[in-house]
Amino acid sequence: MSERIAICPGSFDPMTNGHLDIIRRAARLFDRVIVAVAGDAEKKHMSALEKRLIMVAAACEGLENVTAEAFDGLLVAFCNERNGIAIVKGLRTTDDISHEAQMALMNSELAPDIETVFLLSRPQNAHISSTMVRWLSELGADISGYVPARVAEQLTARQ
Ligand code: PNS
Repeated sequence: MSERIAICPGSFDPMTNGHLDIIRRAARLFDRVIVAVAGDAEKKHMSALEKRLIMVAAACEGLENVTAEAFDGLLVAFCNERNGIAIVKGLRTTDDISHEAQMALMNSELAPDIETVFLLSRPQNAHISSTMVRWLSELGADISGYVPARVAEQLTARQ
């Protein structure tokens, strides 16, 4: 049987503990997980693509079936290029649902064979977002409880 590959996409600006938890759980459900870090074209990011990719790769070290790659353009095109069968995303609160459902419906119209799989965030991560971490970081607060240790190291090294 061919490998069952999942794609975990995001901006990861920066990667949070919530992201890492979803990736770990996806890695138990699929043979291989590719964390797809979105390029800089779409949004203005705090960290450039190369730095976000380095942080994601460092945080995923030790997860044997997980790799990280940058992508630009359509997510479903990247997914097809990598033979992905599913897009895995986390849902934190009900606020996430409408936006994520809209993207999932659009992606399934564009590529009907690719399923979007939602994993519910663990309660301890439900209030953590990259936006919140960036805000705390800008205000000089300690963000080490909200991001993987390897990400915290890189972010504090730059301040
Ligand atoms: O972490 P984010 O910012 O919520 O991630 C959003 C991301 C990168 C998953 C989303 O913007 C995306 O899928 N971008 C790729 C472009 C694309 O395929 N757009 C159509 C989706 S309906």
